[in-house]
Amino acid sequence: MNFDMNTVLFALYPYIAIAVCVIGCWVRFDREQYTWRAGSSQLMRTRGMVVASNCFHIGILFILAGHFVGLLTPEAIYHHVISTEAKQILAMASGGFFGVVCLVGLAMLLHRRITDPRVSATGTRGDLAVLVLLGIQLLLGLATIFASMQHLDGSVMLMLAGWAQSIVTFQPAQAAAYIANVHIIYKLHVFFGISIVLVLPFTRLVHIISAPIWYFGRGYQIVRQKKAY
Ligand code: HEM
Ligand code: HEM
Repeated sequence: MNFDMNTVLFALYPYIAIAVCVIGCWVRFDREQYTWRAGSSQLMRTRGMVVASNCFHIGILFILAGHFVGLLTPEAIYHHVISTEAKQILAMASGGFFGVVCLVGLAMLLHRRITDPRVSATGTRGDLAVLVLLGIQLLLGLATIFASMQHLDGSVMLMLAGWAQSIVTFQPAQAAAYIANVHIIYKLHVFFGISIVLVLPFTRLVHIISAPIWYFGRGYQIVRQKKAY
């Protein structure tokens, strides 16, 4: 394998990030289980929190589910229901809509975290950094839509899906070849995406792994409730 910049960033770095993520989460769960949390700051200020958090989470969960299905479903399978061109339009339109919903929520969360003295005093620099990183990633993702408008035949989407499918099937050389010639905006978005996986064990993002299991399987935890007595 030829170790140029493209290969290091898009064929080697993804495996380093996945390895750090798996081992890091394992060690953190084993040694510092009480730090494993979403780090809710709702107790500090409820106003605007529900709308902000819901917009952000609905947007990001839709986008990530779309990425998972969209990038990893082989062309031969989805052709039973949709053409390549139509799938690209669907990804751009739905991803664009939920991307904007997510951006509105994220901007509100960021504003609250920066301007509310109680929230900023109890949060860590890591909490702020996570929001900034996700914000950059979201803006880069939304920017890919404008790049994709230049080629509506789905050809670039196929290269990016080829990259993702080669990574998960352990074919790094093929992955590097697929992504080598796409526009820099896609490369930046994929690079930041891999970096989010890398830092996940060291941030509150660990709740992505446990939240679906523990939050949906239990009753509501009432953080703050106004009572009339
Ligand atoms: C089913 C999946 C998920 C559940 C149940 C969940 C749940 C939560 C909860 C309970 C909080 C605490 C704040 C609040 O009360 O809203 C939170 C905060 C947060 N979540 Fe999630 N989450 C999920 C998925 C995700 C994903 C996929 C991401 C990003 C990739 C994410 C990023 C964040 C961030 C950045 C915060 C902090 C917001 C702030 O600055 O206050 N979450 N999540
Ligand atoms: C490992 C992580 C990630 C990878 C590999 C990745 C990859 C991609 C690729 C290849 C596209 C272009 C799809 C196409 O043109 O067919 C895309 C689009 C997009 N991404 Fe990501 N992404 C990642 C994480 C994220 C995250 C965390 C967000 C949100 C904060 C995000 C938001 C978007 C948006 C809004 C679009 C445009 C709409 C769409 O095509 O769905 N991505 N992403």
